[in-house]
Amino acid sequence: MRINLDFKDRHAVIFGGTTGINFGIADAFASRGATVTVVSRKPENVSAAVEQLGKHGGQVNGHVADVRDFDAVGRVFASAVEQYGPVDVLVSGAAGNFLCEVNEMSSNGFKVVVDIDLVGTFHVLRQASAYLRKPGASVINISAPQSVLPMRWQAHVCAAKAGVDQLTRVLALEWGAAGVRVNGISPGPIAGTEGVRKMMGTGEEIERGIIATVPLQRLGEPDDIANLALFLASPYAGYISGATIACDGASVLDNIKSTVEDAGRALAAQR
Ligand code: COA
Repeated sequence: MRINLDFKDRHAVIFGGTTGINFGIADAFASRGATVTVVSRKPENVSAAVEQLGKHGGQVNGHVADVRDFDAVGRVFASAVEQYGPVDVLVSGAAGNFLCEVNEMSSNGFKVVVDIDLVGTFHVLRQASAYLRKPGASVINISAPQSVLPMRWQAHVCAAKAGVDQLTRVLALEWGAAGVRVNGISPGPIAGTEGVRKMMGTGEEIERGIIATVPLQRLGEPDDIANLALFLASPYAGYISGATIACDGASVLDNIKSTVEDAGRALAAQR
């Protein structure tokens, strides 16, 4: 179920928007009439997403770029804005993750996640600054429970996502006068996503275990996240900036981290 907001003649750019939660966000904007640009580092994901999103009948284009490459991110904005005009909605959602305790993690393993999640978000925001609609643009950074919950096996993600939340706050300060709002979404466990598969595993028993950690007693759906993105990008959220909002069935308040840590323990036992 999607909230019925109109984004006709609005240009939404979604980094990481070809799969999972970010694809759900791209699909929601496309279904509500927005012109959509999606960006991913995998060409096959870009072409599949563009084909799927195009079924809503609007304008859709895809770009292949790695958020770790500052210049490549800049080229995406230059080209997308020349094609479709200034960016009304920007989502920075590219992310990487794996389970690993600090004593086993290489310097490069730590760095690769910080580079994608945190430095990548900086690249997207920094390059976007010249291309956002001013006033009026809405920027959404995808965060995670790890930004506020320390978790074993997740040092790299905890460090990176805490930094993402601070970027959200700092940019809300710096861009407020230009009429640009900057917020974050912190998703809980969302059904069918790579994040849940990698962090917690798969199978009915694992799913039941995850659900038991969520006070609302269900996994989230991609539309739960997409609805929050639609709302944050709409005029109804016109006085919200600098906020990172959990959309997680209250799981961050309870013990979602135990499921991730159980999966990490099982992985360590196999080593
Ligand atoms: N355990 C320990 N170290 C790992 C690891 C794991 N499961 N997976 C990767 N690494 C380390 C590698 O060993 C390497 O370090 P090294 O050079 O010292 O050996 C480093 O991380 C980089 O790995 P590489 O595979 O070369 O990086 P990549 O850029 O191809 O992939 C990842 C990036 C590792 C984050 C990969 O998981 C990815 O692409 N993820 C995107 C999708 C995703 O995770 N989605 C879920 C988001 S919640």
